[in-house]
Amino acid sequence: KILILDFGSQVTQLIARRVRDSGVFSEVFPYDVSDEFIRNYGASGIILSGGPSSVTEGDTPRAPVAVFDAGVPVLGICYGMQTMAEQLGGKVENGKVREFGYAEVRARGHTSLLNGINDFVTAEGHGMLKVWMSHGDKVIDMPAGFKLMASTDNCPIAAMADEERRFYAVQFHPEVTHTVQGEAIIGRFVHEICGCKSDWNMPDYIAEAVASIRAQVGDDEVILGLSGGVDSSVAAALIHRAIGDKLTCVFVDHGLLRLDEGKMVMEMFSKNLGVKVIQVNAEQQFMGHLAGVTDPEAKRKIIGREFVEVFQVESAKLSNAKWLAQGTIYPDVIESAGKGKKGHTIKSHHNVGGLPDTLNLKLLEPLRELFKDEVRKLGVALGLPHGMVYRHPFPGPGLGVRILGEVKKEFADLLRRADAIFIEELRNTLVDTAAADSKLNWYDATSQAFAVFLPVKSVGVMGDGRTYEYVVALRAVQTLDFMTAQWAHLPHDLLGKVSNRIINEVRGINRVVYDISGKPPATIEWE
Ligand code: XMP
Repeated sequence: KILILDFGSQVTQLIARRVRDSGVFSEVFPYDVSDEFIRNYGASGIILSGGPSSVTEGDTPRAPVAVFDAGVPVLGICYGMQTMAEQLGGKVENGKVREFGYAEVRARGHTSLLNGINDFVTAEGHGMLKVWMSHGDKVIDMPAGFKLMASTDNCPIAAMADEERRFYAVQFHPEVTHTVQGEAIIGRFVHEICGCKSDWNMPDYIAEAVASIRAQVGDDEVILGLSGGVDSSVAAALIHRAIGDKLTCVFVDHGLLRLDEGKMVMEMFSKNLGVKVIQVNAEQQFMGHLAGVTDPEAKRKIIGREFVEVFQVESAKLSNAKWLAQGTIYPDVIESAGKGKKGHTIKSHHNVGGLPDTLNLKLLEPLRELFKDEVRKLGVALGLPHGMVYRHPFPGPGLGVRILGEVKKEFADLLRRADAIFIEELRNTLVDTAAADSKLNWYDATSQAFAVFLPVKSVGVMGDGRTYEYVVALRAVQTLDFMTAQWAHLPHDLLGKVSNRIINEVRGINRVVYDISGKPPATIEWE
């Protein structure tokens, strides 16, 4: 296994991710673990991450001395390279210019880390790497025993190695995808230099996670707010695997869920997996508080507040619970850390308003090192159905932000049925019907798709009669990060079929429109 010491870079977890992708187990620990910890850990190799500090300033992080005495290969990345240089007798200069972004690095010498790895070869025969750089400081003198491994015009010592002691260091970031050969470089380090085999996989991960949850909570009881979304569902399944009946899930039905969602969640968790789930039907409470409210932010606040209220009442009944489990995943951790807070706070977006500190519970977040696609793979390995684990995201305030203006039960009921028809047709329509082997349907080809209820009436004609009913807008987008999004170019036949079905099957809606706005300037949700 590989030990990663974190010096505070935003992308440290990506290093772990790359190592795991190469089939080798790795864990991230803070840089200031003790020498004894390093000696007892049993790592086959150690990676020092990047970080925001400058080694040229006195009181900044340093690697424990044991890292360099452990007799295992060490790879320093960015700040990790600088502290390695500084600690082993080299010199680092406080950079006047920051180098940020794409760079081409000339790989020199024949070191076992970069030998034969390049993106292209120049006319003079130099191997070149396309890399991502983000640094101000740079190493200007290598410690004794090191030789130059790569350079750029800006950064003459862009990588260095002491093959004798198996110490390697790179100024660029091999862990980000912009460094084209990043995977190859990290793979080379863990497999060939550290000698790790590709034997780490999801079942191993589950065993490790289960052991660590047990060690963390002991005999205590845990509660978890189950939303039916991917993250809380996978967290529930994992914690249940670890502690069984000592986990109680609270599932709040605020009356703003998708069609049959409550039934599906209860069936899945309670019946199939045997998880203890308390289902709270709070529809009336939510609808009562939302009556007459039309402002989007006010609606969100009410939904968040009532959610916390219900959750508090339910958790107070579980007097033995000492832990609050959350499906926080790594991108959430980065996001809240990025807001200048030290450590982690519950993301308000994540859990409908965020649960308050007054619950007096310790936080259990077993997914906080994983990326979304890893969470999904974990979910499948834990026995959750593929269809559930690969569902589109659904906002905490639910249909509350998809019913424009005042939320009424009557509107929610209409919207649920229209939405279910849209989703069903997306799932049933293949993207490329001509390609015999293509199984990709439009649901999987879009990142998020849903119906929106517009509380305006328009005139229509059905049979011999005039109708005067509501409008539904369909929204389908494609995006990688949900920060920007394109509207999906769904085939007209598919849109036509969905429109016909909604108007024929959902009495009360006589007009369907398709949203062709990108984000920005529009947002994905309408409120
Ligand atoms: P927007 O509408 O801002 O949405 O483009 C971006 C993504 O965030 C989801 N979203 C939410 N998720 N609680 C959530 O858990 C919320 O309050 C919330 N608001 C928006 C939205 O569905 C989309 O995926």
